[in-house]
Parts: sequence; structure tokens; C-alpha cells
Amino acid sequence: MMERRLTGESVARIIGEREFYGLAFGLSSATLEPRPDTELLVDLALKALPQGGSLVDLGTGTGCIPISILANRPDATGLATDINPDALAMAKTNAARHDVTERLNFAQGSWFDAVGTERFDLILSNPPYIASNVIETLSAEVREFDPMLALDGGPDGLAPYRVIAQSAADHLKPDGQVLVEIGYDQADAVSALFRDAGFAQVSVHKDLAGLDRVVWAHHLGGINSKR
Ligand SMILES: C[S@@+](CC[C@H](N)C(=O)[O-])C[C@H]1O[C@@H](n2cnc3c(N)ncnc32)[C@H](O)[C@@H]1O
Repeated sequence: MMERRLTGESVARIIGEREFYGLAFGLSSATLEPRPDTELLVDLALKALPQGGSLVDLGTGTGCIPISILANRPDATGLATDINPDALAMAKTNAARHDVTERLNFAQGSWFDAVGTERFDLILSNPPYIASNVIETLSAEVREFDPMLALDGGPDGLAPYRVIAQSAADHLKPDGQVLVEIGYDQADAVSALFRDAGFAQVSVHKDLAGLDRVVWAHHLGGINSKR
């Protein structure tokens, strides 16, 4: 174990699990190690979710986001998606561990391709948001051990947000909301993507380190109004 740690592998990867929102999540080579920064997204989602509400988490990794929410909200249901089937397998194991399997479905595919025609009260995502050319500058602990699919957000780090902002309205119930985690310097760009897609009340929320971390956008249109 010490030899593995000396190569830069994190303690959580070596022991095979990491705590998030008070729960333990199993990790695999296909999943990002959940970060405390992402707990802000869960805090805000718990406020945003109406009684008996539904959510979809795009790019779920370990499943830490929807599982933490459903574990705290027995009235809620959800769908967890990922493009990587091995990540989804880990998320399913974690859902069983925290006893939310009956209220959480799973679907594999790229962003909304996995979702079909279903509509939700909340769309959530912590997508890959590192610009491709920045990845080589990250610490070995991240660069060598977190999966590339969980890090690489394309040339400017914004590629997943463009897809999500453009199609989110088609998958939201009336008055539905979107919450996405962002990189510390992406608030203006990501907010603009959601405003351009017709979302209102777009706000930016800081994490405990004082860094911009979540964009929260409200969709005020009716069920058939796309923009
Ligand atoms: C930054 S990780 C976040 C994982 C987890 N939600 C968390 O917060 O710890 C991004 C996730 O998006 C997934 N992903 C990457 N490209 C995707 C795509 N085109 N469609 C769906 N998921 C994708 C990755 O496999 C990874 O699990």
C-alpha cells in the first residue's frame, strides 16, 4: 500500500472507497474519486427538489450525487447515467449499499441520449470540465488515476455544458431546474450558455473555499416550450 501511495495513488483509491456527504462510496478505475467540492451541488439540489420530485444525474461516476440525495429524501426518485458501463456498474453497487436501488434507475449513453423522452424536476451534472491541454499540468494523483473520460471537457473545457444547456429544456418538467458543477473560472461562460438556451434566474454559487462551483438555472417555460 505504501508503494502504491508513493506512485501518487490516493489513499481512497488504495482502500477502494471514499466518503462523500457522510456516506462511503466504492471506487473503481472507471470512476472519478468524489470530491468535497461536489457536496455543494447536493446541498443545493436538496433545496431545489420539490416534494416527491424526480432528478437525472448525467455522468454519475460512483453515483455519489443521486445516491446522496435519495438517501436524504425518501420521497424522491432518480435516473443515473454515464457513458462508461463500468462506472455505471460501480454506481449500481453503491446504490445497493445505501439502499436506494428501488428509487434509482440507471441508463448508459452520452448525455441525454441515455435519457429518452422522460422529463424531470431537476437535471444535475458534474461533467468533465478540464480543458484538454490543461490535463497534463494536473497533479499525478489526478492525471494518472482519475479516468480521462471523467476529466477531459474538450478544447476549452466547455463541450459537455454546450450539449447539456442546449437539450436540457426538452427533459425538464415545467418550472424544472438545472444544477451543474463548474470549474472555478467557468461561471461566466457556463451561465451564458444557459441564458442563451432560454433559462432564467441563472445564479452562481461558491464552495467552502470561496470558489465559483455551481451554476443553477431555472426553466420557466411550459412543457412544450423549448426555449
Ligand atoms: C467529473 S466525472 C463526475 C462523476 C460523479 N458525478 C462525481 O461527481 O464524482 C464526469 C463523469 O461523466 C462521465 N462522462 C464523460 N463523458 C460522458 C458523456 N458523453 N455522456 C455521459 N457521461 C459522460 C464520465 O464517465 C464520468 O463518470
